[in-house]
Amino acid sequence: MAHRRVTVVGAGNVGATAAQRIAEAGLADVVLVDIVEGLPQGKALDLAEAAPVVGHDMSVTGTNDYADTAGSDIIVVTSGLARQPGMTRDDLLAKNAGIVRSVVQQAAAHSPDAVLIIVTNPLDAMCHVALEASGFPPERVLGMAGVLDSARFRTFIAQELGVSVTSTHAFVLGGHGDTMVPLARYSTAGGIPITELLSQERIEALVDRTRNGGAEVVALLKTGSAFYAPAASVAQMVDAILNDRAAILPCAAYLQGQYGADGLFVGVPVKLGRAGITSIVEIELTTDEQAAFDRSAAAVRELVDTMARQAAESVVS
Ligand code: LAC
Repeated sequence: MAHRRVTVVGAGNVGATAAQRIAEAGLADVVLVDIVEGLPQGKALDLAEAAPVVGHDMSVTGTNDYADTAGSDIIVVTSGLARQPGMTRDDLLAKNAGIVRSVVQQAAAHSPDAVLIIVTNPLDAMCHVALEASGFPPERVLGMAGVLDSARFRTFIAQELGVSVTSTHAFVLGGHGDTMVPLARYSTAGGIPITELLSQERIEALVDRTRNGGAEVVALLKTGSAFYAPAASVAQMVDAILNDRAAILPCAAYLQGQYGADGLFVGVPVKLGRAGITSIVEIELTTDEQAAFDRSAAAVRELVDTMARQAAESVVS
């Protein structure tokens, strides 16, 4: 059987580490693309030279030319800027929207049947850009963050209870950011809701830490943000899609009425398979949970509206 093919756009820490995980798990051949000459080629060569030691036969190649990505099954978009000193949130939004629009247009043109996984922040807003730029149906455009946010929540639950991370499960809804909604009553250890195992106060502390999980790593690293857990999360989504697992994973998905949101990408549990999102899993929320979800959706909507305003201004000026 011919190998499957995954294009990873952006050869920074998240992109290169995702390429490594995908290739080393034997999931697919990987094409690493970046605008910087030599960077994707150098990292790809280095990864290819690790293959004999690791023991896999996936090819890893680097390129600056989207023609080399043709026929990919999945396109992972990690390229974008991190916020620089003096840059406002809106400046970053406009810059990354421009980058994501350009790379998605080029990658989608060469792989019209691919599933797009967006990683660039602000994640949920960048999914909107990707949906528009690709012209793909919404089931083939999704964002990575729920898996990462749940992984962080699981890590903290396992540490708190002194149990294996593999015994934990976490459920996180909403946008990727300080408004995300970790749902304690659906988060479990050994199938037991953590609400039965921990005090409300401890749960709130873990929820807070999860919400600030990205910032906690940034504060420690000082120059850069998390990439091991984000890359592992991408690889799990790639595995679910390529192996048609019908895995239920939390992802940013285009909602059309579900959870009371319409025409908006927000993190919800979805069923992932070869076709991308095969269904959105809807559950009944309590009044408080729905209010928290609505706040998170409103925060995403605000970014989408800002991008629309920025686009209109750039047409006028
Ligand atoms: C994080 C950033 C990368 O959560 O979104 O670590």
